[in-house]
Amino acid sequence: MIKILVLHGPNLNLLGMREPGIYGSVTLAEINQKLQTAATSLGAEVTCLQANSEGALVDAIHSAWGIQQGLLINAGAYTHTSIAIRDAIAAVNIPTVEVHLSNIYRREEFRHHSYIAPIAIGQISGFGAESYYLGLQALVHHLQVTGI
Ligand code: DQA
Repeated sequence: MIKILVLHGPNLNLLGMREPGIYGSVTLAEINQKLQTAATSLGAEVTCLQANSEGALVDAIHSAWGIQQGLLINAGAYTHTSIAIRDAIAAVNIPTVEVHLSNIYRREEFRHHSYIAPIAIGQISGFGAESYYLGLQALVHHLQVTGI
């Protein structure tokens, strides 16, 4: 069974209430529920975690070492600022897919740069909650073809 860690960064606990015009009306609990179901049908297992602090996200990435084979991450605003999260992913060397609900390239310039993208397999951005499910499929497929 392929094990995937799903990490949600700062402010994503407010999904459904937070700027719904940008992020939609789906809650984080609904996204996690749907990820569990999708994972089961893909032959995978997800563990979902949300944290507002950078250090907690770094700790969660470290704890995936030797346990989870893939990382699906929406680092929220830390995407654009955190060398620590990027270094943690590089350190554990777990195949990673970066996702965003909004299309970060259609938004403010400060959102156009991701510290995570260069060390990720790929990035899915702009499909709302669907970005997570597409990202999960892409990650599981990648792990299956590379035969982790
Ligand atoms: C986000 C995009 C980020 O720029 C923003 O800071 C977020 C959410 C997204 O999912 O669209 O918190 O990662």
